[in-house]
Formats: sequence, C-alpha cells, structure tokens
Amino acid sequence: MIQRTLVLLKPDAVQRGHMGEIISRFEKVGLKMVAMKLVWADKEFAKRHYAEHVGKKFYPGLEALITLGPVLAMAVEGIDAIETVRKLVGPTEPKSAPPGTIRGDFAHVSYGYADAKGISIKNLIHASANEADAKKELALWFNDKEMHSYKTVHDVHVLE
Ligand code: PPS
Repeated sequence: MIQRTLVLLKPDAVQRGHMGEIISRFEKVGLKMVAMKLVWADKEFAKRHYAEHVGKKFYPGLEALITLGPVLAMAVEGIDAIETVRKLVGPTEPKSAPPGTIRGDFAHVSYGYADAKGISIKNLIHASANEADAKKELALWFNDKEMHSYKTVHDVHVLE
C-alpha cells in the first residue's frame, strides 16, 4: 500500500521558478520526499529514462527538453503514491489537464501546438506511470544511499 514513485520537475518547471510551489502540493497532502537532487541529464541518460519513447515522432523534442537544464528528481513516498501523485499532476497535455492539477494550473499548451512547432509539450513534470516503471525509474535516478526513511508529522497524526 505504501509506495515510492519517481517525480521529475523538468527544466521548464525549474527555469520558471515553480519548484517550491510544486513540492508544496505534495507536502500538503502528506506525501513524503525520501530523495531529492538536481541532475542535468545528457542525451544518453535521457534515452535510458524515456526508453519506451525513443524512435517516436515526438522523441527528439522530448530529449531536447529533458536535457535543456537541470531536472529536480525526487522519490516520493505515500499510500498508493503512484496513483496519488499522478492525480495531483494531471493528464499529460496541459490543455486537457483540469484546474487544480499541476499541469492544468501552470500551463495550457496543447499537443497540436507542440507538434506544429516541432517541440516537446512543456508540461513541467514527469511521474512514473505504474509499479514497474516506478521501480525501474527510481533505480535509474537514485542509489540506495540517496533514499531516506524517516517519520513526518503526517505519519504520527494521520497514518496511526
Ligand atoms: S505518460 O505520462 O508517460 O503516461 O504519458 P505518455 O503520453 O504515455 O508519455 C509521453 C511522454 O512524452 C512526452 N511528450 C509527448 N507525448 C506525446 N506527444 C507529444 N507531442 C509529446 N511531447 C512530449 C509526454 O510529456 C510524456 O513524458 P512525461 O515526461 O511523462 O510528461
């Protein structure tokens, strides 16, 4: 029931200065950051992270975006964390993402616009899609020593 998932604040989120506001949304619902670091990914690393998308029409733009500047990588822990985080993040396309979600509140760009411009859709954030992806992606971005177990106020007042 308690899961860990990978969250990346992509270079558009970092460069627009939204790291704090986005982290605060995870903290407010009681999710726990158990690892965090700024990483400037290169093309080879990008291909490992987005392996399932390499070769797709939009991949060159996606690689250009993720390697544009530092990414804030986080391991986020909580009850059904994979689903809970993706609920807060919202659908992939900001134009379709409802208000209240991170992608819906911080962007409105559409697939159509991005595809016509030949650029990646700038949707601020990546979150693992399922358990298999979370396991694989966490192992790619973090080693065991970078992951921490600790108690928060939420553990004491809500989970017990
Ligand atoms: S997800 O979140 O992985 O389930 O979404 P999915 O749609 O399968 O993933 C596609 C990733 O590629 C990024 N991307 C695009 N997808 C489709 N069309 C265009 N034009 C496009 N540009 C970028 C999309 O943002 C997903 O990556 P992440 O990092 O998860 O957002």
